Amino acid sequence: MEYRRLGRSGLKLSALSYGSWVTFSYQLNDDAALEAMTVAYDAGVNFFDNAEVYAGGESERIMGRVLKQTGWGRDTYCVSSKAYWGGNLPTQRGLSRKHLHDACHAALKRLQLDYLDLFFCHRPDLETPIEETVRAMHDLVQQGKVLYWGTSEWSAEQFQQAWGLARQHGLTPPTMEQPQYNMFVRDRVERDFHRLYSEIGLGTTTWSPLAYGVLTGKYKDGIPEGSRMSLPDYGWLRERIESPGGRANVRKAVELEGVAERLGVPLSRLAIAWCLKNPNVSTVILGASKVGQLRDNLKSLEAAELLSDDVMTEIERVLQNRPELPQQL
Ligand SMILES: NC(=O)c1ccc[n+]([C@@H]2O[C@H](COP(=O)([O-])OP(=O)(O)OC[C@H]3O[C@@H](n4cnc5c(N)ncnc54)[C@H](OP(=O)(O)O)[C@@H]3O)[C@@H](O)[C@H]2O)c1
Repeated sequence: MEYRRLGRSGLKLSALSYGSWVTFSYQLNDDAALEAMTVAYDAGVNFFDNAEVYAGGESERIMGRVLKQTGWGRDTYCVSSKAYWGGNLPTQRGLSRKHLHDACHAALKRLQLDYLDLFFCHRPDLETPIEETVRAMHDLVQQGKVLYWGTSEWSAEQFQQAWGLARQHGLTPPTMEQPQYNMFVRDRVERDFHRLYSEIGLGTTTWSPLAYGVLTGKYKDGIPEGSRMSLPDYGWLRERIESPGGRANVRKAVELEGVAERLGVPLSRLAIAWCLKNPNVSTVILGASKVGQLRDNLKSLEAAELLSDDVMTEIERVLQNRPELPQQL
């Protein structure tokens, strides 16, 4: 395993980490989650990603039971939670001081932990002043409930505003962002955040490296039974893949399979390795509904070594979506 600094912080996360969205509870019960997390941990993974909204809290309960059962030293792994969608009542949602306080404590209870290593604002909340959110996160850090706080799917401007406010008032600034990043979704990580890496040392924990599974090539002949797109609650994902843009991505995945074949690796490994090639990615959060998938995806670090400049150029030729960086003044 390779370990990378979370931005400019001193925390070193495994370059590959493991998240539980969709899978824990819907596809993996306690026993399967135990096996998957053990495979990850034994391969050197030291970060497990979670959120209050995943399976309505059940994903955190499962992870908490697994962690308890394994008995791994608390100083050997990191766990996250994210707050935003905690329930339907006005006090159970968003990034108010009230909800962040409640969400953090509820997550700790479900995970059976004393502190969260990483705590994310799962989306921007336009109805809460950023300063209230920054102060609430700072207080959780001061109380020892959270070690590093960050955001997920915030714009560069929103992140910079939170960071600036924290600096101005002597509060703890956000350390990391959790954006989607894969061969099809690149703009935020490669273009929008470009200056934040060097200017404020932004760390990134990126999600959906396989574009929900499309970058395995499994959707080229329709939607296989048992796959994520076939799950009853994920009709919105199915609609996306059936849209013109979704179908174009499936066709690109077929072309990319040719590149992967020539390198002698499965497309899934090539796609994860491609994310790892970006040095501004602190950790790529893997998803896996089966232990076999996870075992295979964990081999992606080796595949990253196969991605020469020529191969990267070949991939760009298929993708045709390289973001243009703003002109340097
Ligand atoms: N912050 C956010 O807003 C946000 C949003 C989404 C995700 N995340 C985080 O990022 C993590 C990863 O996201 P993701 O699960 O969407 O990642 P992903 O890698 O894009 O998709 C993972 C899914 O693809 C399929 N798959 C994975 N490896 C495969 C393989 N080798 N062969 C065939 N199929 C394979 C599996 O689905 P099936 O087997 O069911 O088809 C698996 O559950 C989540 O668990 C979560 O922690 C965060």
